[in-house]
Amino acid sequence: MSTRPRVSTRISAISESATLAVDAKAKAMKAAGRPVIGFGAGEPDFPTPDYIVEAAVAAARDPRFHKYTPAGGLPELKQAIAAKTLRDSGYEVEASRVLVTNGGKQAVYEAFATLLDPGDEVLVVAPYWTTYPEAIKLAGGVQVDVVVDEGTGYLASVEQLEAARTERTKVLLFVSPSNPTGAVYSREQTEAIGRWAAEHGLWVVTDEIYEHLTYGGAEFTSIATAVPELGDRVVILNGVAKTYAMTGWRVGWLIGPADVVKAATNMQSHATSNVANVSQMAALAAVSGDLSAVARMREAFDRRRQTMMRMLNDIPGVFCPEPMGAFYAYPTVKELVGKELRGRRPQTSAELAELILEEAEVAVVPGEAFGTPGYFRMSYALGDDDLVEGVSRLGKLLAEAR
Ligand SMILES: Cc1ncc(COP(=O)(O)O)c(C=O)c1O
Repeated sequence: MSTRPRVSTRISAISESATLAVDAKAKAMKAAGRPVIGFGAGEPDFPTPDYIVEAAVAAARDPRFHKYTPAGGLPELKQAIAAKTLRDSGYEVEASRVLVTNGGKQAVYEAFATLLDPGDEVLVVAPYWTTYPEAIKLAGGVQVDVVVDEGTGYLASVEQLEAARTERTKVLLFVSPSNPTGAVYSREQTEAIGRWAAEHGLWVVTDEIYEHLTYGGAEFTSIATAVPELGDRVVILNGVAKTYAMTGWRVGWLIGPADVVKAATNMQSHATSNVANVSQMAALAAVSGDLSAVARMREAFDRRRQTMMRMLNDIPGVFCPEPMGAFYAYPTVKELVGKELRGRRPQTSAELAELILEEAEVAVVPGEAFGTPGYFRMSYALGDDDLVEGVSRLGKLLAEAR
């Protein structure tokens, strides 16, 4: 009998998402009839706008879309993405440099798979979104964390990045607005980081999926436009999921230099081929339409954001810097870890999150999932009443900590 492992070493190394434990438990509790309020969702709670759905229905009826189409995306969608990128980011790009992917997630995987050789280092600001480490690892890359905290509103400085740079550093991952912290870099900060990257010949992979969700005077700046010196060493990742409430449709894209896009397209042509055409036509309606739907969502998110921030900061032992983008708050709970609560003494934020789920029927994602224990990520993409009820329950329970 073979002594070789049944599951390959490479794939066995992929971690189970740390969000899953809480999520699975919350779902089981809900199914058992318990009134769980979930702050775990990474998606807008709104339906996809009607005009987008209508475009999909029309596409489903058109036999042209029942067939294989070019692996890199429908030409009209690539054109519309190029036009949208000029409109929203001021970045001029030809349609041939757009690759349409199965969600932003596939764009993340393909970007790292295309750029990294084994041992190449990627600078990643922690807290980070859970998918990046796995994509980097699968590509053979080495993630180097640049840890930030609430003291700077979760923003990294050039000095911190420089301290983490080595001769193996190939890529800086730049994410603004950030999941999980909601941090948004100003134009000046973006320029300083971009110029530093250009000066050292680094590639920048920039995830712009939350570009339209900024609040309170914060503005999204595309590092690709702000720092032309980066030249052809920029890869932009984006998608329709967050802007148009289209998480289930699975359309994202990657924009990069011709050689990178060609290589990534080759890879995709063997892995998944074209993204479902019905979804591509829905995405075409989305990106070529206006931004009124996201403006309405942003208004609701902004209201909930302020409510959540105010309520969280009223809880003793909790501190939450103002999230300026996306739809997440990232409060620190470090002072509460290790305290006695309902006869238990949680030693980590993961244990505290578990206790909160059991005792207050509130689901939060512990910071362990994002590379920084001692925090919670709380999405405010849920109804206003549930939000108030959920944070009230959390506050009441945590007030008992001794
Ligand atoms: C920062 C970030 N990038 C990319 C994505 C990918 O989104 P999707 O694959 O749904 O397009 C997400 C989703 O949560 C995200 O938070």
